[in-house]
Formats: sequence, structure tokens, C-alpha cells
Amino acid sequence: MTAPLIVLVGPMGVGKSTVGALLAQRLRCAFWDTDDVIVAAEGRSVADIFTEEGEERFRALEKDAVATALAEHDGVLALGGGAVLDAGTRRLLAAHPAVVHLSMGVEEAVGRAGLATARPLLAGDPRERWQELAEARTPLYAEVARVVVATDGRTPEEVADAVLDAA
Ligand code: S3P
Repeated sequence: MTAPLIVLVGPMGVGKSTVGALLAQRLRCAFWDTDDVIVAAEGRSVADIFTEEGEERFRALEKDAVATALAEHDGVLALGGGAVLDAGTRRLLAAHPAVVHLSMGVEEAVGRAGLATARPLLAGDPRERWQELAEARTPLYAEVARVVVATDGRTPEEVADAVLDAA
């Protein structure tokens, strides 16, 4: 059976996709991002899926995409920030030996360019929305991850180094 070498979880804007791509380069393996898998399969953006069919539909697509990726992909896998909301997904992740939680504080999050771009759940007041989501989800990331790597004040390269040291 195949399984990803490293699975990245964590909040929106923490750099899962950037760091995941760097890790894949360093490990010379493939990189998968479940948001990209969903967008490619659906032929429309995450924002369009939310607008046209709602969050529930997106979560159903996400649950299937994560289960397939965990079963079929090797290499590095990055999950959308809300993938851990599903209890079945959390069980699958908890059984995986290299789930890494990339963390950051709210100040770092709002300081990152483009945080609210194309992220429907941050519409309105991105700082407040980001913080609410972080409060609800941090325990869920903790439930599934073997290690936490803080990204505050670190470049993606430094975060990738820290993940390789920790994973
Ligand atoms: C979401 C995170 C997004 C994307 C969608 C919902 C979330 O992915 O899946 O907008 O609920 O946290 P990123 O974490 O890659 O931004």
C-alpha cells in the first residue's frame, strides 16, 4: 500500500502549499494539494464551489479527495485548512505516522499578503474570521498531528528544514 511520506495540516495561509512543494523538491517526490485535486476534478475554483453549491458540498468533495490521496499518493500531501473538520478524515490522519501541523499566530496570519484572496471563509473581517476558525480547529490539528512546526517569522525554506528535522 502507498502512503504519503509527509502530510501537512494547518490553518489557511500558513504556507502548506509552498512548504509542501519545497519539501517535495528536497525529497525528490511528488507534491499533492487536495484543493488542487478538487479544482482539477471539478473544473472550477474552490470559491466557485462554495458560491454555487455551498460549503457542505465542498466538504464532501474534500473528504473523498483526502481519503483517495491518503490511500493512493506517495510523496508530500497538503490538506485544506478545514479537512480536519470531518471525524472520519481525522481517524485516517491519526493513523498516519507523519502528519505535521504547521502553526501560526493571528498577527502572522493577517500580515501575510493575499490571506483573504479566494478564501470564501475569510470574507468580511479576515482577522476575526481567521481567529474564530483557529480557536475551533487548533484542537483538531493537535488530535491528528504527530508534530507541530511553528511558522511565525520563518521563511518557507526554514519551515521546510524544521519539518524535515521533526518528521
Ligand atoms: C479552507 C481552506 C482552504 C480551502 C477552502 C476552505 C478552510 O485551503 O480548502 O477555502 O476551511 O480552512 P487552504 O488551507 O489551503 O487555504
